[in-house]
Order: sequence, then C-alpha cells, then structure tokens
Amino acid sequence: MGQTRITIRPLRLDDGSNIYELMHMPNVLWGTSLLPSTSVDAWRKTVEGWVYDERMHVFVAEVQGKVAGIISVHVGVGRESHVGDIAMAVHDKFQGQGIGKMLLLTVIDLADNWLNLVRLELDVYTDNEPAIHVYKHFDFEIEGRKRLDAFRGGRYIDSYIMARLHHEHHPGEEQRAGTAEEAASPNAGDYVEMLTRVSEAPAPPSVGRQEEQKTQ
Ligand SMILES: CC(C)(COP(=O)(O)OP(=O)(O)OC[C@H]1O[C@@H](n2cnc3c(N)ncnc32)[C@H](O)[C@@H]1OP(=O)(O)O)[C@@H](O)C(=O)NCCC(=O)NCCS
Repeated sequence: MGQTRITIRPLRLDDGSNIYELMHMPNVLWGTSLLPSTSVDAWRKTVEGWVYDERMHVFVAEVQGKVAGIISVHVGVGRESHVGDIAMAVHDKFQGQGIGKMLLLTVIDLADNWLNLVRLELDVYTDNEPAIHVYKHFDFEIEGRKRLDAFRGGRYIDSYIMARLHHEHHPGEEQRAGTAEEAASPNAGDYVEMLTRVSEAPAPPSVGRQEEQKTQ
C-alpha cells in the first residue's frame, strides 16, 4: 500500500455531491441521525448554508480529490457562546485509519486556540463504540444518558451526552498528558496536511453493528 496525502481543509461550496455520498454510507447512517432519503440537492443546500454560517466551522478530510471525512463545530450564542456542538463522520471506505482522530484534533485546536471555547459537546449513540473510543481519547467524558433518543433499524436507541472542558476550566484537574499536550503543541498546525497510509478498504463493522445486522 502506498502513501497517500490527506488534506484537512475548510468545507467548500463544490463539496455537496461528495458530502451526499459520504452521508449515505451505511455505517454513517448507522452512527448519525441522518435519513437515507435526503436528496443530493438538499445536501448541496445544506453545504451552502454551512459555508456561509459564521457560527458553523466545518472541515473535511480530502484524499485524492474525494471527501473522506467531515467534522463540524457549531458555536452557541449569547450565554452559550463558549459552547461548541460537534458532529463528525468518516466515509465507510476510510474508517479505522486515523482520519477521525485527525479531524477531532483539528476542531480541538480551533476551539482551544482560535475560538476560545470552554466546552465542546456532542451526542453519541451508546452502542457506537468506535466513536466513543475516539472521543474518550481526546478527554471527552460521558455526562449523561438520553433514553430512547432516536429511532434506528426499527427500534429506539439511547444516546450519551459527552463533553470536554478546556483544561483551564476543569475544576481541580491538571491538564492531562497526551491529548491536551498535542492540541497545545507548537506543531498543532501540522495537522493541516500529512502523508499517511490510507486505503479504500472497508473498515470492519463495529461489534454493535454486527449484532444489529444479525438480528435483521
Ligand atoms: C466514529 C468515526 C467518525 C471515527 O472515525 P475513524 O476515522 O474511523 O476513526 P479513527 O480511525 O481515527 O479511530 C478509530 C478508533 O476506534 C477504535 N475502534 C474501532 N472499533 C472499535 C470498537 N468496536 N470498540 C472500541 N474501539 C474501536 C480504533 O481502534 C481506533 O482507536 P485507536 O487509534 O486508539 O486504535 C467513524 O467511525 C464514523 O464516521 N462512523 C460513522 C458515523 C458516526 O458514528 N459518527 C459519529 C457520530 S457521534
């Protein structure tokens, strides 16, 4: 397997079709609250709305001209202007190769060093083990459980609320080694472009997904 360049860059207007494809991947539909019925035209309009929304900060991971992943942070207003709401997805063919971690590191750098956000938060389905693993790696903690939060594959499922507080606002805790150090490092900007080994081989489904497929 050769080396392939991954570029993390802001979302562009012409990404609509690529985002439509990514958002319709089976694993992405499984891990998010998206519907498979959303049209490419609706996605183009959504992308346009995101591009011009000053509170919406969206990065994509590009591999050989194709959008392999996307992450957004939506900044709150008024008394919640210190809060960012995160959503992310990696194309099924590129999962499990470090792109999710690169994208999350990108928005943590944006939040900590450019937007001065104190709290990053998100919802994640309780059986989405790969996503929970990635969030915990960057110091997100489970704060609570939303019961019967969504309907998927014919049944209701629960979500966790997860959040990461900026270390300066974490009561009584020192900055933990690793994650915060990475985000604060002078080389944090190096995420923008890197060479790594990626392939288009589909990632193995998570345990939760395998169980769900068996029951269908
Ligand atoms: C969650 C998601 C964004 C992660 O992106 P990714 O590029 O696959 O993530 P990475 O390759 O950077 O990291 C995956 C990590 O999960 C781990 N992992 C994979 N399967 C796992 C499982 N069943 N249980 C626990 N950890 C698992 C991997 O080992 C890896 O961690 P490591 O680097 O410490 O070994 C991606 O899987 C995805 O888009 N899923 C569908 C949409 C979705 O769920 N979005 C999140 C909604 S909250």
